[in-house]
Amino acid sequence: MSLLPDQDRILLGPGPSLTSPRVMRALASPTVSHLDPVMLALMDDVRARLGRAFRAPEGSLAFAVSGTGTAGMETVVSNLVTDGTRVLVIVGGYFGDRLVQMCTRYGAAVARLDVEWGRACEPDAVRRALAAQPADIVAMVQAETSTGVLNPVRELTAIAKEHGALVIVDAVTSFGGHPLEVGAWGIDAAYSCSQKCLGAPSGMAPIVMTPAALARRVACRSFYFGLSLLEDHWLRRKYHHTMSSTLIYALDEALAMVEDEGLEARWARHERNHQLFIAGLARQGLSVLPPEGERLWTLNAVKVPPGIDDAAVRRVLLEEFQIEIGAGLGQFAGTIWRVGLMGASSSPRVITLLLAALNDALVKQGRRAMA
Ligand SMILES: Cc1ncc(COP(=O)(O)O)c(C=O)c1O
Repeated sequence: MSLLPDQDRILLGPGPSLTSPRVMRALASPTVSHLDPVMLALMDDVRARLGRAFRAPEGSLAFAVSGTGTAGMETVVSNLVTDGTRVLVIVGGYFGDRLVQMCTRYGAAVARLDVEWGRACEPDAVRRALAAQPADIVAMVQAETSTGVLNPVRELTAIAKEHGALVIVDAVTSFGGHPLEVGAWGIDAAYSCSQKCLGAPSGMAPIVMTPAALARRVACRSFYFGLSLLEDHWLRRKYHHTMSSTLIYALDEALAMVEDEGLEARWARHERNHQLFIAGLARQGLSVLPPEGERLWTLNAVKVPPGIDDAAVRRVLLEEFQIEIGAGLGQFAGTIWRVGLMGASSSPRVITLLLAALNDALVKQGRRAMA
């Protein structure tokens, strides 16, 4: 008996997103070892493509860490934060809080700037926080996946720079879906994942460190995430760990698809499909949590209508339509659904299907059918 899935799930949760046929074919390529010439050429290609996708300045180091988005977070934090590093973390949801925990574990003196869940961070709040208490690093989440909120990273980064702080950006739910300009905006380090807007399976975490960040690196306590050791592997071909060739094939192909589509065109597609979804929700009397202008295109925090059983709706979508959407996290558990429209999942075809299935699930709970 096989436990493997025999139906195609339509992945519209907070990640992973759908894997395109092109990336699926890459996954089926023959395995090579981690220091095979084929692998080394692919790793060089991944580095070059990531540098372009992050829009990183000359002299930056862009590569992918084995692991998920959290591994990207840990690599950046563990190589920039040490005992006593003053870090201001903007916390507007579950993943901002994870950044606090990560920085604290690596010895930082953390100051939290708490923002109401469901709202973007006001630039003035960062200005006030830094005036009251200087920081070596300001860390923020661009796309807060727990609330569906987009933070104004460009503005927040500019303020941090005025105060001489390094800027770390979590781009796990934004990289490849929302504008992100590492060089032009002055971001110093950013990390993401493979399984959301890039459309590969999870398992590789893209990161970028600019020359300013590389100059401020600390002695890293982690062996697995130590930058010098990873540089030895990625740049000097010295064994560090047995990186998965299969996941590198998938990431490289996904990045090639990003370049074939064009970054601007890809951002525009994510915006267009988000608007299509919002319009469809409105026709069913549904809406999303964040106000207009603060909404992610990639992750929609749909408000569960009063009297509706959140879990029952998700069950109907999954069991009857093979559609996965996400539940609310933390303080929004039970009150929002999280609908990811990322990578190959950002398409009119799946949005039309989701809206029809959602209507069906809501009618099963006694709501009036959509006109
Ligand atoms: C904003 C953000 N940061 C970090 C993570 C952690 O990523 P992963 O689950 O891939 O480790 C996630 C996961 O969804 C996320 O949305």
